[in-house]
Amino acid sequence: MAPIISIEEAGRHSGESVTLRGWLYNQRDAGKLLFPIFRDGTGIMQGVCSLKESPAAYEALKNLTQESSCIVTGTVRPDARAPGGHELHVSEVQVVQRIADGDPYPIQLKEHGTDFLLENRHLWMRAPRQAAILRIRAEAIHAARNFMDSQGYTLTDSPMFTPSACEGTTTLFEVSYIDDEKAYLTQSGQLYLEATAAALGKVYCFGPVFRAEKSKTRRHLTEFWMLEPEAAYAHLEDMMVLGEGLVSHMVQSVVKNRPRELETLSRDVTKLAAVVPPFPRMLYDDAVVTLQKNGKAAKWGDDFGGEDETVLSSQFDRPVIIHRYPASIKAFYMEPDPQRPELALGFDMLAPEGYGEIMGGGERVSSYDLLLKRVREHNLPEDAFKWYLDLRRYGSVPHAGFGLGLERTIAWICGTSHIREVIPFPRLLYRIYP
Ligand code: 4AD
Ligand code: MG
Repeated sequence: MAPIISIEEAGRHSGESVTLRGWLYNQRDAGKLLFPIFRDGTGIMQGVCSLKESPAAYEALKNLTQESSCIVTGTVRPDARAPGGHELHVSEVQVVQRIADGDPYPIQLKEHGTDFLLENRHLWMRAPRQAAILRIRAEAIHAARNFMDSQGYTLTDSPMFTPSACEGTTTLFEVSYIDDEKAYLTQSGQLYLEATAAALGKVYCFGPVFRAEKSKTRRHLTEFWMLEPEAAYAHLEDMMVLGEGLVSHMVQSVVKNRPRELETLSRDVTKLAAVVPPFPRMLYDDAVVTLQKNGKAAKWGDDFGGEDETVLSSQFDRPVIIHRYPASIKAFYMEPDPQRPELALGFDMLAPEGYGEIMGGGERVSSYDLLLKRVREHNLPEDAFKWYLDLRRYGSVPHAGFGLGLERTIAWICGTSHIREVIPFPRLLYRIYP
């Protein structure tokens, strides 16, 4: 009996007989020789099957339809031209399910339109490119968790159902809770993390968040994942350093552990290799001047749009951190700069190559009186924020944190043109199927 292996491991079995369990990705028929390509979720592997040497396997493969499931046995042989550097000389084939000729696999090996692919996302994800992206996503998540744990942060996940907004009321998804009570899907776990940070010191949460974004851009999802650290006795500077450490660790782990997937995506790895700390930093004031010098109509007090972010980030080969924005364009919870109270002690991190804001965070208001004033100014329901205000009544300390947008980070690492490809089932403005 040949050992069952995955395609990813094939290189270690050169010269041996092995069994692969997967699907027929594609096949070229050259008469008495067949050149099947198998996929098993870890990669694709080219095979060769000869009528003369393995007639039964040949008959099983001949005319086998694309994406039929099959278990194949053969000998692994080095072949420099084959993807992965090895080929399988097929000796046995067991077809698990043959896709009927009259009902072929919907995604043919040609270009399809985006709507069609999204409608068939449950199948589209089998394509080598899509599978490579999802493996890179898993690697980046693994690296992010390892990094946070290694820095002494304790995972304390925040709830998804909340009684109030965190990031402004315009993008809230309302749901009816038990007995007609209203609740909202969370936009960020931050407020709850501030409580767990006061309990455990350094904490993070990592989960899906929801925003009823009416923006139909390549950077917006309505459900996306955010990794959020929060630390007691921490300041803006601490979070900028933690943020660049986290992002560079994620990028370098993908470069190190997923080279084949990056190759499948034709990603320029030299650009990723440059992503090491320290990241460049720029004051908001200077960012406005830079935009003006580049012919943008920016003026002090404006928030930056997607195009502005692209202009700013294109000056650098790694992410740039913009800090100290006007308080008026930032969230209610941001601590003012004691030197210049019109500024917030907050920062955004912009990814290179036009991928926009991947991280936002900063220091939180720690004074009870100021926070109450802010809650009122923003017309937020005081009742729902009572517990949050309590954190400033009972042992308040300076504290800070940030949120990393996972999908924007992965889209940049993968070099995809749209964020929808980097999450298994994207939730978009007009799409919630499949
Ligand atoms: O900048 P944001 O809104 O920050 C917060 O929510 C803070 N409460 C986080 C914190 O300090 N704990 O969102 C954080 C990141 C953004 O930088 C962006 O990368 C991503 O989340 N993001 C989105 N990603 C995909 N689709 C959307 N609609 C997004 N909105 C924000
Ligand atoms: Mg932001």
